[in-house]
Amino acid sequence: MDGNGRWAKARGLPRVKGHEEGLRTARKVIDYSLARGIKYLSLYVFSTENWKRPQAEVAALFSLAGKYLDDFADFCSKGVRVVVSGEREGLPQKLARKIEEMQLKTADFDAICVNLCINYGGRREIAHAAQRAAQSGAVSEQSIAANLYNNLPFPDVIVRTGGQKRLSNFMLFQAAYAELYFSDTLWPDFSCEEYQKILEDYCGRSRNFGAITE
Ligand code: IPE
Ligand code: MG
Repeated sequence: MDGNGRWAKARGLPRVKGHEEGLRTARKVIDYSLARGIKYLSLYVFSTENWKRPQAEVAALFSLAGKYLDDFADFCSKGVRVVVSGEREGLPQKLARKIEEMQLKTADFDAICVNLCINYGGRREIAHAAQRAAQSGAVSEQSIAANLYNNLPFPDVIVRTGGQKRLSNFMLFQAAYAELYFSDTLWPDFSCEEYQKILEDYCGRSRNFGAITE
């Protein structure tokens, strides 16, 4: 979800306004995903590198992350299961509590699973999974996969908005065969029409996962 800051700057607004608008886009995207029958949606909310931002922006992002979770109380009626991936350490206590609460409350819902990546880094996740795999026996692709933050299916599609063409430490293990989409649209301007086009394009891609298909 990249481009919130630039969206705000272009309007002479503080960066945090861009993040607020970004939250609106996230809600739209969740609703659209539900309507399209998508079963898993991950949103990259805060990376392990985002701590480098000014303290006030970090605080604003955590407060918004809390709002993400509050909003999702509404989603209970729609059957949204909320999962949060990332390190709990360093998070404000209130947010950490909210995360546990929402995960518990929504654990049995299955209309869609929304995975919020908060204080998330792909390298950190792999290191953490490898460490746990080593403690329990052999380190292998399977045992690393089994010790990731969650056991959701690997993503079919990864979309990055905001014009940069990189993964920025997002799901480095899981992304091995994901179809990648890079859009110049700033996240607050990302629309369901654009989302739909990406899904349509995805349906036309042939995926052979390294094998040969005719
Ligand atoms: C949102 O966009 C990303 C986060 C939620 C941390 P940015 O805050 O990176 O916006 P730009 O890239 O400065 O426009
Ligand atoms: Mg950015």
